[in-house]
Amino acid sequence: MKTILITGGAGFIGSHVVRLFVNKYPDTQIVNLDKLTYAGNLENLKDIQDKSNYIFEKGDIVDSNFINDLFDKYQFDGVIHLAAESHVDRSISNPLEFIQTNVVGTFNLLHAAKNLWSKNFNGKLFYHVSTDEVYGSLGTDGFFLETTPYDPQSPYSSSKASSDHFVRAYGNTYSLPFMISNCSNNYGENQFPEKLIPLFINNIRNNKSLPVYGDGLFTRDWLYVVDHARAIDTVFHNGKIGDTYNIGGFNEWTNIDLIKLLCGIMDEKLGRQKGSSAQLITFVKDRPGHDKRYAIDASKIKTELGWEPSLQFTEGLEKTIDWYLNNQDWLDNVTSGEYQNYYQNQYQ
Ligand code: NAD
Ligand code: DAU
Repeated sequence: MKTILITGGAGFIGSHVVRLFVNKYPDTQIVNLDKLTYAGNLENLKDIQDKSNYIFEKGDIVDSNFINDLFDKYQFDGVIHLAAESHVDRSISNPLEFIQTNVVGTFNLLHAAKNLWSKNFNGKLFYHVSTDEVYGSLGTDGFFLETTPYDPQSPYSSSKASSDHFVRAYGNTYSLPFMISNCSNNYGENQFPEKLIPLFINNIRNNKSLPVYGDGLFTRDWLYVVDHARAIDTVFHNGKIGDTYNIGGFNEWTNIDLIKLLCGIMDEKLGRQKGSSAQLITFVKDRPGHDKRYAIDASKIKTELGWEPSLQFTEGLEKTIDWYLNNQDWLDNVTSGEYQNYYQNQYQ
């Protein structure tokens, strides 16, 4: 039986990847390693927690002794690395935490994998899940290609860019078999309500203001999280060692257009008067160093590996809104406690 380590599996994207792998590969043992920070939540995995090929380990990727012991214990055949500090605004107020988890944590995993596999790299794979933010910001034209030079602008994207470089360095220097994917903005079930879409769904439901940064004319390329999980599965099993794959939704929206669409759907779902949610829109101070536009050219993964998004955006957005409205306890749980301090400091 093969054993795969998935890091950050209690988080938003990680939980969808764990679910997909546990259900699709019953003969593979999946070990989910997560520190359970504010963003990690085992509630996200209730439906698969009792499966015989699933094991949860609580721990910190920054703790190298713990990581080395874990690799000793399980003798992993592969690693899918998602654990990270992932929110740009938090990286602006607390950059050191991002260097610790995203850079030092990734290094610890690379080093442990190299030590475990160095006698025979055959059949082994270190798959690093990264972001399109490493490429910096686009103007009004063009797309991020796998060959686009790195130009990270925030502490978050700089820490992810640094971790990508370490992964390639371990491939080039020690022959560690690796793959990297760089994905655009995800949305869907179980996303922590600090990110735009779940934050605004939660605020609309509570009749709170919707804080739009700057002029709202920033552009993101949105992808449904389950499609990202499918892409990770495709790359992990069919990708080429040492290659990078860009993953995106072919789905660009300015923030303000997306927010207006969201408000319209929420009015309908909540039975409110048309236009009432949009009245909550409030333009606030811009995010420092705010990247203007991200847009992925995902033709490589489409042409070489046959992956493409399966869901239309409005369908995915409706599904996502329905999930949050049907899981208000989940929202209430994750927004109690520390979240209130975060919200106060970020949006005071
Ligand atoms: P998330 O913040 O929802 O989840 C991160 C998970 O990592 C949490 O479960 C958390 O507990 C865990 N974690 C954090 N620090 C840890 C540590 N030191 N040790 C062990 N576990 C730790 O993040 P997400 O949005 O699911 O993103 C997952 C990955 O995908 C990240 O690497 C992120 O950079 C990347 N990514 C995210 C997006 C997006 O739109 N969310 C897009 C592209 C790439
Ligand atoms: O592009 C991939 C990246 O997408 C991932 O690597 C990150 O982990 C993920 O957080 C996301 O980063 P963004 O900064 O693009 O996502 P966020 O949801 O924070 O913001 C989306 C856009 O909405 C961005 O232009 C900022 C804006 N925004 C966000 C918040 C939280 C607002 O206008 N108001 C807000 O309150």
